[in-house]
Amino acid sequence: MSRILITGAQIVTMNPQAEILIGDLLMENNRIIEIGRDFDVVGVDQTIDGRGKVLLPGFVQTHIHLCQTLFRGRADDLELMDWLRTRIWPLEAAHDEESVYYSALLGIGELISSGTTTLLDMETVHHTDSAFQAMAQSGIRVISGKVMMDHGTEVPEPLREKTAVSLQQSVDLLEKWHGYDGDRIQYAFCPRFVVSCTEELLTEVRDLSNRYQVKVHTHASENRGEIALVEQERGMRNIVYLDHIGLATPRLILAHCVWLNEEEKQIIHRRGVKVTHCPGSNMKLSSGIAEIPDLLKRNIKVGIGADGAPCNNNLDMFQEMRHTALIHKVEHGPTVMDARTVLRMATMGGAEVLGLEHEIGSLEVGKKADMVLLDLDDFHTYPSFDTDVYSRVVYSTTRSNVETVIIDGKVVLENRKIKSMDRGIVLRESDRSIERLLKRI
Ligand code: GUN
Ligand code: FE
Repeated sequence: MSRILITGAQIVTMNPQAEILIGDLLMENNRIIEIGRDFDVVGVDQTIDGRGKVLLPGFVQTHIHLCQTLFRGRADDLELMDWLRTRIWPLEAAHDEESVYYSALLGIGELISSGTTTLLDMETVHHTDSAFQAMAQSGIRVISGKVMMDHGTEVPEPLREKTAVSLQQSVDLLEKWHGYDGDRIQYAFCPRFVVSCTEELLTEVRDLSNRYQVKVHTHASENRGEIALVEQERGMRNIVYLDHIGLATPRLILAHCVWLNEEEKQIIHRRGVKVTHCPGSNMKLSSGIAEIPDLLKRNIKVGIGADGAPCNNNLDMFQEMRHTALIHKVEHGPTVMDARTVLRMATMGGAEVLGLEHEIGSLEVGKKADMVLLDLDDFHTYPSFDTDVYSRVVYSTTRSNVETVIIDGKVVLENRKIKSMDRGIVLRESDRSIERLLKRI
């Protein structure tokens, strides 16, 4: 049994009452067992001094490609289909087991260091077992799966899958990893997007997701060229098509959703489909601005994700929160997407998208012990006197303020040092891996 106590912090619970208190938080093994002031504690293994610091639930990112972290800075200033065809697909095709492993560790190192404790990830076609090894070792909470692509032109040969093989490999990975370490790791089926999937693959994924009760994670309606391709081939708008083949269920998580018409918004709402907002990626790939204030008004569940390193180029939730708060004000005025709404999307909102709202997303007794301690004693986060903590966290805090990160009751970042991996080795092996990949292309 292990017990960790955090004392005297400003605890931003993100619970339904939006309570904020100065007090203590006690966890036992991987659960929060007490929050409050002056409660009796015996037998604590570690005490963390939280005085003058802010304690938040860990951030939940609902769309990341860990397999692309090694491609950071190698695909700038392109639009989606060119970005995929000329850079990302050839790079993914060149991956080997070791490069996928270090790509994942590099990404997870960045995520943990900037306060993300849970992510929904999409891997590449091959070597996904290596990514799961990295996730297992790193201590992060993750839902992930191998990407599926059995269709489409201009896909490099090594990434073109036979439908049956893609399905079988997905099921094999699911059976190996889904539920690992007390559910810290879960599996999701990841058909890449309609453009790269046959109808047979998508309907089989629908049935498998139903049988195993796991999530389906895909890209949808990110770019107008993508939507035109879907309409040409399937004769329908993207979301209408997903509904037509029975994939639109509460287990479906759609990344981007920039270009939705009224009918598609109604389908997403009616079917309980979840959405991920990727504002940094949507700006950089020039995809457009998703109508998130409208989706939230309709009570559609929306999370936030940085997407992959080559379309962002960081995996930092502070930057993504800032984009989320600012981008919609340009069109809709200064009161939309206030700091509390945005922080909620980054925590509870993400948990709801992943169906984990009873386990994570807020600091409440009984929930999993996933949290971030911020040290805001710095020029860019002062003054502290009588400031609104939501404003402070969303508008002025940066990743440099992240001091300690706890996931599943384990301290994975302590005094800004990552404990679950060797930083020096990960940086060095990332360089060696990308050098090897580039030679292979
Ligand atoms: N659509 C299909 N694949 C991808 C990808 O890897 N990244 C993004 N942003 N969009 C996609
Ligand atoms: Fe993506």
